[in-house]
Amino acid sequence: VLRKKIAVLPGDGIGPEVCDEAIKVLEAVADRFGHQFEFETHLMGACAIDATGEPLPDKTLQGCFEADAILLGAIGDPKYDNNPAAKVRPEQGLLKLRKSLGLFANIRPVTAYDVLLEHSPLKNERVAGADMLIYRELTGGIYFGDKGRTEDGEGAYDHCTYDRSEIVRITHLAFQAATTRRNKLTLVDKANVLETSRLWREVVKEIAPEYPDVELDFLFVDNAAMQIILNPKQFDVILTENMFGDILSDEASVIAGSLGLLPSASVGNTVALFEPIHGSFPQGAGKKIANPIATILSAAMMLEHFGLQEEADLVKKAVHNALDKKVLTPELNATSPYTTEQVGNFIAYFVMHGIEVMPD
Ligand code: IPM
Ligand code: MN
Repeated sequence: VLRKKIAVLPGDGIGPEVCDEAIKVLEAVADRFGHQFEFETHLMGACAIDATGEPLPDKTLQGCFEADAILLGAIGDPKYDNNPAAKVRPEQGLLKLRKSLGLFANIRPVTAYDVLLEHSPLKNERVAGADMLIYRELTGGIYFGDKGRTEDGEGAYDHCTYDRSEIVRITHLAFQAATTRRNKLTLVDKANVLETSRLWREVVKEIAPEYPDVELDFLFVDNAAMQIILNPKQFDVILTENMFGDILSDEASVIAGSLGLLPSASVGNTVALFEPIHGSFPQGAGKKIANPIATILSAAMMLEHFGLQEEADLVKKAVHNALDKKVLTPELNATSPYTTEQVGNFIAYFVMHGIEVMPD
């Protein structure tokens, strides 16, 4: 029996709806395997600003520190998007959470599901079989460097900095991941222009001999952006800095056919965080159309992180079954769409009983 305390940060928009379904699936896992998962919900994002004035209240951070893992829905609200200069923003909560918890590696698997190929905007034969894992550095680089305005207010700057230790720790994780997959690692950088990228290359090359089975190559980020679309199958594990990873992982997500399918894990030295890569989709909130699968697969990554491989595999199997049987929300099933809750129930029931019951 495993006991785990899970902090849940549902956030904004569709965040609470998709978290509910992931919790349902985790509860089914707990029932089936005799584990005990305790869930504690906290405020973060625009909802936290509305309630407390702060995007990441101390109480939330405290709850995260005390948990064994964090499940996050999504944050963001249009009232801030239209006003990028707002002093207090939901995104600050997420960035502070990453930094405070030391979540230095963001891991995003991108898989092309055969049954969904028709939904990919890319040619099917290009996408079929694509399966890559992106390791994005998450607590350094331009996101966290000095930023500001020049004295006269006419200029602005965002400094990009990295030090060796920040590169070393994620590089080991990425190499280790490659050894469990197809033994290929691609460092994406801009070493023809940026000094930070030259440091990344230097450090990654130094570490490479420790992983003799892994084939290492390098791509400039502009070329990588093109290669991900032209020939996604060439990639196994991609390692890259914070901002390049932000951009490339959204780009890579089109390969899967829907943003609503892609999970992520953010890991570091302490508690790890699991969240779908999609945003808060405010237009969809309350309409029961949000796809819960990305969050459910994020919960599966959490189970893997707990060392519960059998449980994680069962959740993934249940998700594949939902894809096969087209028990899917409208963006992936326009003819007979199911609600967020129906998709969650279908997956949770399969996890619990090993068989399916089609929703009415
Ligand atoms: C992401 C998001 C965040 C980021 C935003 C919300 C700050 O786009 O998790 O990829 O840029 O890291
Ligand atoms: Mn992003």
